Amino acid sequence: MNSSNLVLLDSLPPVAGLLCSPGSVDPRCYSSGLMLRFPQLKPSEVLVRARAVSVNPLDTRMRSGYGRSIFEPHLPLILGRDISGEVAAVGTSVRSFSVGQEVFGALHPTAVRGTYADYAVLSEDELAPKPPSLTHVEASAIPFAALTAWRALKSTARITEGHRLLVVGGGGAVGLAAIQLAAAARCQVTTTCGSRSIDRVRKAGAEQAVDYITEDIELAIKGKFDAVLDTIGGPETERIGIKFLKRGGHYMTLQGEAASLTDKYGLAAGIPIATAILLKKQIQYRYSHGIEYWWTYMRADSDGLDEIRRLSEAGKLKIPVEKTFPITQVREAHEAKDKKKIPGKVVLELD
Ligand SMILES: NC(=O)c1ccc[n+]([C@@H]2O[C@H](COP(=O)([O-])OP(=O)(O)OC[C@H]3O[C@@H](n4cnc5c(N)ncnc54)[C@H](OP(=O)(O)O)[C@@H]3O)[C@@H](O)[C@H]2O)c1
Repeated sequence: MNSSNLVLLDSLPPVAGLLCSPGSVDPRCYSSGLMLRFPQLKPSEVLVRARAVSVNPLDTRMRSGYGRSIFEPHLPLILGRDISGEVAAVGTSVRSFSVGQEVFGALHPTAVRGTYADYAVLSEDELAPKPPSLTHVEASAIPFAALTAWRALKSTARITEGHRLLVVGGGGAVGLAAIQLAAAARCQVTTTCGSRSIDRVRKAGAEQAVDYITEDIELAIKGKFDAVLDTIGGPETERIGIKFLKRGGHYMTLQGEAASLTDKYGLAAGIPIATAILLKKQIQYRYSHGIEYWWTYMRADSDGLDEIRRLSEAGKLKIPVEKTFPITQVREAHEAKDKKKIPGKVVLELD
């Protein structure tokens, strides 16, 4: 426990009836000799003692100002979406978890109190029991990326057995999760990725892996797809994704413009502008190509997380962890990601 974490916790309201004071002897008030005040949990909330939290691109982007229209009024922020740890306290209506249980999960993208802290508050439906076969480090790498993929594939495209899926950027965490979820649903998956990811995406279940640097993607890919998940979302990947869709298919990009437009124009103007841009694209693509166009976002989904837990436990869903840092070196971890020194998943460990 360091003093900055104490400040984060201390900014939360104390538990009713547990007003910690320097003279208190309640063990919950102290850690390493420093005063610790636990937050007052809403009925459906769970306080989790963090053991590992993974670094997502959203964390480094938020640190650089992305989403400022939403987050600026809440500064100072706690970054971090993913967590694996132990339940420290539960709200009055929580039935699925008990104190001491090992859990993993992820916060919603717009949550203002993140997981880079000794303790984090998540709602019951943002958590699942941690698969015992996984370490906290391994478990913390999974939920945010896998739930992003889950929402796109299961809620938006509604993929099912026999569907053909193209994952643009299968070498990243969301892409790998998408390949594994689709393979578990008995879909046929083609993906684009860098050469270093070819073996990994094949092991994850991709039938075809196309190197986006050395191969001509348009020549290498054959046939059309029921759904395209574009984790890169640039103009070129969008053009290719749309080109390879069947009529009635779903193109889903992870690079929706809602947050960048609200950052640029403010919430009041940005949301209607984003809605208008999305609607225009949806109508254009429906008319020109007969396809459905989506900006897709991570969302908490307890059924999804339960299936992700089940697949992880069965060894069918893994996100490889490239490097771990102690949480005290969060600055170094973010710098390494910003400078693209570490290509894969980075996890921060807590004692
Ligand atoms: N909308 C949402 O709610 C949401 C949620 C999660 C993530 N995201 C966004 O989705 C993106 C991916 O997230 P992530 O967690 O999977 O990131 P990540 O683990 O850092 O993966 C990024 C991967 O993209 C691959 N890549 C880069 N350029 C490519 C190209 N032209 N074609 C194919 N692959 C390419 C690289 O794979 P190789 O190593 O194989 O080259 C890289 O490893 C990020 O931009 C993130 O901000 C959005």
